[in-house]
Amino acid sequence: MIIREFRPKDLRRVHEIEKMSFSNPYEIEMLKQLFDIGTGFLVAHINDYIVGYIIFWIKKEDQGHIISLAVDNNYKRQNIGSKLIMTAIDIFKNFDIKRISLEVKAQNKEAVYFYKSIGFFCDEKILNYYEEGVNAFRMSFICVDEF
Ligand SMILES: CC(C)(COP(=O)(O)OP(=O)(O)OC[C@H]1O[C@@H](n2cnc3c(N)ncnc32)[C@H](O)[C@@H]1OP(=O)(O)O)[C@@H](O)C(=O)NCCC(=O)NCCS
Repeated sequence: MIIREFRPKDLRRVHEIEKMSFSNPYEIEMLKQLFDIGTGFLVAHINDYIVGYIIFWIKKEDQGHIISLAVDNNYKRQNIGSKLIMTAIDIFKNFDIKRISLEVKAQNKEAVYFYKSIGFFCDEKILNYYEEGVNAFRMSFICVDEF
């Protein structure tokens, strides 16, 4: 499995994964715009077949944010999500980011377990954050320099 930067030709396949992963997926044009404005955008591929992606950006001087992360249903639990987010965390560290945050649906247990396994913790519960009154957890990760 290889992780590399997103290329515009990956857009359709990334959108396929987005649609299978979220009840309210980003439109393909939105994914393109996120790339165009210069977000961090990585894909994971196996034999040239894209199986996951992560989109992230620097929110403030020393704060990073995960915008979206998803792995194709058929490739889950193979450490692909972990490798994508660890690569993003390494990139953030290179920019001296101290704290990384994200929002996740409170009912999305697989994602909450996943982020906890990486070292994220729940900061706060945000009521009615998503459509139809769905609550969110804001989760954070503190970047610690390795000695
Ligand atoms: C969340 C997601 C990205 C995880 O990707 P993944 O490649 O399957 O995750 P990994 O294989 O790296 O899992 C790492 C660890 O996370 C935890 N984990 C992952 N999925 C889990 C699940 N369904 N139930 C419990 N723990 C889980 C486990 O501790 C796992 O380690 P293990 O397999 O050795 O037990 C993936 O499930 C996904 O795309 N979900 C749909 C989209 C989504 O919810 N994205 C996040 C929105 S903010």
